[in-house]
Amino acid sequence: MSEVAKLQLIGLMIVGSGALILLLIRAQFVRVIGFVAIVLGLFTLVALSVPQMASLPPVEEKFDIATVKTPTDIATIGQKIFFSKGQCALCHTIGPSESARCPDLKGIGAKLSREFLFESLTQPQAYIYLDYRHEGQPKEYPARMPYINKNPIGLSKNEILSVIAFLQQMSGEPISVTVAELEVPGQASAAPVKVAQSGPVDVAQAH
Ligand code: HEC
Repeated sequence: MSEVAKLQLIGLMIVGSGALILLLIRAQFVRVIGFVAIVLGLFTLVALSVPQMASLPPVEEKFDIATVKTPTDIATIGQKIFFSKGQCALCHTIGPSESARCPDLKGIGAKLSREFLFESLTQPQAYIYLDYRHEGQPKEYPARMPYINKNPIGLSKNEILSVIAFLQQMSGEPISVTVAELEVPGQASAAPVKVAQSGPVDVAQAH
C-alpha cells in the first residue's frame, strides 16, 4: 500500500470514529470532539487527494567503472556530467550563442592540451592576470570559473577526466583519457592519474 493510501485510510478512520461518536454519544463535549474529528479528517482526505509530486534532487550519475570499456564510453559519461552535475552548461555554450557570458567551449579540446584543460577546471585562478588599475599592490581578478573539484560542484577525479574526454571528443580530437587511468573505488591509488605529462599520455598500469 502506498504511503498516500495509508494516510487516506487513517483519515477515513478518523472521519468514521467522529461519525460514530455523533451517532452514539449524547454528551455535549464528546460530540464537539467528534465533530472536530470529522472536519479535520475531511480536510486531510481533500489534501491527500491533490496529486502529489515528490521534488527530489536530480539523480546522480553513477560512475560505474565496470560498464566503461572504451574511451568513447568515458566521453559519454563526461557529456552527461557536463550537462548535469558539472553545471558547465549553465555558463558555457558549445558553439556561439548570443547570450553567452563565458567562453564558448566549441573546439576547446583541440585548442587546449589535456593538462591545460585539467588546470582550467581545478585551478581557474592560474592564468588570470593581475589587476593594476588602482594604487598599491596589484590585486587578482577573481576567477568566475568555479573550482570544479571543490564544493558545490565537487566533481571527482574520474568525473573531471570524463568531462575532459567529452571536450576532446566534441572537438574532434582523439580522446587521451584511458580506461586504465580511472580510479577504481576502493583501490584509489592503483592507477595514478598523470595529468602533468605532456605528449601522448601512456597507459598507467594497474598492478
Ligand atoms: C559559473 C559559471 C561557470 C561554470 C559553472 C563553469 N565555467 Fe568554465 N569558465 C567560466 C568563466 C567565466 C571562464 C573564463 C575564465 C574565468 O573568468 O575564470 C571559464 C573558463 C573555462 C575554461 C578555459 C577556457 C579557455 O579558453 O581557456 C574551460 C576549459 C572551462 N571553463 C570548462 C568548464 C567545464 C568543463 C565546466 C563544468 C565542469 C565549467 N567550465 C563550468 C565560467 C564557468
